[in-house]
Amino acid sequence: MLEIALHILDIIQNSIHAESTEIELQIIEDPKNNLFAFSVKDNGKGMTEEFVKQLKNPFHTTRTTRKVGLGIPLLVDACQQSKGDVEIKSTIGKGTFLKAWMNYNHIDRAPLGDMPSTIVSILLSLKDQCFVYIHRYANREFSLDTRELKEILGEVSLQDAVVLQWLRNYVEENLTEIRQRS
Ligand SMILES: Nc1ncnc2c1ncn2[C@@H]1O[C@H](COP(=O)(O)OP(=O)(O)OP(=O)(O)O)[C@@H](O)[C@H]1O
Ligand SMILES: [Mg+2]
Repeated sequence: MLEIALHILDIIQNSIHAESTEIELQIIEDPKNNLFAFSVKDNGKGMTEEFVKQLKNPFHTTRTTRKVGLGIPLLVDACQQSKGDVEIKSTIGKGTFLKAWMNYNHIDRAPLGDMPSTIVSILLSLKDQCFVYIHRYANREFSLDTRELKEILGEVSLQDAVVLQWLRNYVEENLTEIRQRS
């Protein structure tokens, strides 16, 4: 069982490889309504309808180093084991929207895992793409936008070690805050 954060990282890597300039990750934790969901939207090269149809089949990939792409099939498995599924909408030249959902309280649902570290990993893999992260817990929300961060940072790189350490704590504190019961 993979932590969901690892699936998220893989889906974001797909968006980065697809030559996107903008990537948006949204996570929804809604225990009351028994819903866990995340979505990744990019403006990359997209896929044909036919390709998307076959995506859930692990023998379908454009990777050259290995014959099978496992990222999406593994995610589909994880979702279906927790009474959920994956939906992919994509348009060539426009981008891709992937949505994954699960029953929040399902015994087979993997834990979300370490989001602060995952966000740091994502920021480190970005080339020049803008990245937006929105995390909702019940009716509370936290968001982060690299465009805003870059404006504040000026000349300092978003991949600077001190900045990343600060961002890891910032994400951690905000997640703790939105998860607190009011
Ligand atoms: N956001 C996306 N935009 C364009 N193409 C995509 C996107 N996501 C996936 N694909 C295509 O679907 C294929 C399968 O993706 P998947 O994540 O299942 O496997 P992979 O990335 O090839 O390998 P792995 O994830 O196991 O390292 C990719 O090789 C890519 O061609
Ligand atoms: Mg992948």
